[in-house]
Amino acid sequence: MQRAGWRLRANIWHTMKSLYVSELKAGQAVKEKFLLHKKSVRDKKDGGIYALLEFSDRTGIIDGISWDADNFENISAGDFVFVAGNVREYNGKPQIVVAAMSVVAEKDIDANDFLLRYSGDIDKVMEAIRDFAARVRNTNLRALLDAFLSDKDFVQSFSSAPAAKMVHHAYLGGLAVHTLGVLKLLQNVQSVLDFLNLDLLIAGGILHDIGKIHEYTYKKSIDISDRGRLLGHILIGSEMVSERISRLAEFPDELKAKILHMILSHHGEKEWGSPKQPLFPEALVLHHVDNLDAKIEIMRQIHAKHRGQNKQWSDYDRFLEREIYLGDDL
Ligand SMILES: [Fe+2]
Ligand SMILES: [Fe+2]
Repeated sequence: MQRAGWRLRANIWHTMKSLYVSELKAGQAVKEKFLLHKKSVRDKKDGGIYALLEFSDRTGIIDGISWDADNFENISAGDFVFVAGNVREYNGKPQIVVAAMSVVAEKDIDANDFLLRYSGDIDKVMEAIRDFAARVRNTNLRALLDAFLSDKDFVQSFSSAPAAKMVHHAYLGGLAVHTLGVLKLLQNVQSVLDFLNLDLLIAGGILHDIGKIHEYTYKKSIDISDRGRLLGHILIGSEMVSERISRLAEFPDELKAKILHMILSHHGEKEWGSPKQPLFPEALVLHHVDNLDAKIEIMRQIHAKHRGQNKQWSDYDRFLEREIYLGDDL
């Protein structure tokens, strides 16, 4: 009897979530697993404490509040928790009023509930990136790309990293998918503007965001690492490339400066995080193509999110700073 009971319990814990953050609405009852994203304890006016909380899963973050925070002293941010409560609307946003909360062991969590992953074959994406690298004729640039792409640890990180926390390609594998998108666009731009140096474009395309492998943490949910917050992927990426070049024999100084410039300037403007504006054609093209791939992906996500809703306009998007037209029968 005991064994059967144990098995039943294990089955319950191992099932995937049935309710996700993005589906929660005021009036709903909740009994579900979440990642406790944030917890801050406050004093009540009449004594005792309450806790302001944030819960997350792969679909987003929702606020929560617990009036009996004393019961949850041993639960901290970063823990997976089972929450029972009700959703109410507070300050125009849904909030879970927590009635009960307990810690769930990591072994009882299905990682796919908390981290979005590229749905296609990431090995094929990496293969296509390698094919681009193989087309580089300049021996120095080729040696630089080969140094990265033959490093197993680098390839492992590069193929699993997200390209963002919230905005574009914010899923595991997103960095490689975005990089391949940039490379395909660069190739097409070069077929029109054929004076552009394809070797520089390919090297810049592959390397421009590699600093992101250290900018994010993505064990439980995608977040920005301490190093990412302090330095950002532009500086981290240029350090990674400088360090590789220092291990290669006789890499020309001017070529090193050009490839570092492409990384440093790829956000285009100082207020967008680039210490330098693009100062030669390949750097300018990389910036625009990077921006294009990212923004098109955001628009595509907005369209996907509204599919079947019969709406002509999206809500205001704070990244694109506009509402997107959704009608498609022009
Ligand atoms: Fe970037
Ligand atoms: Fe990028």
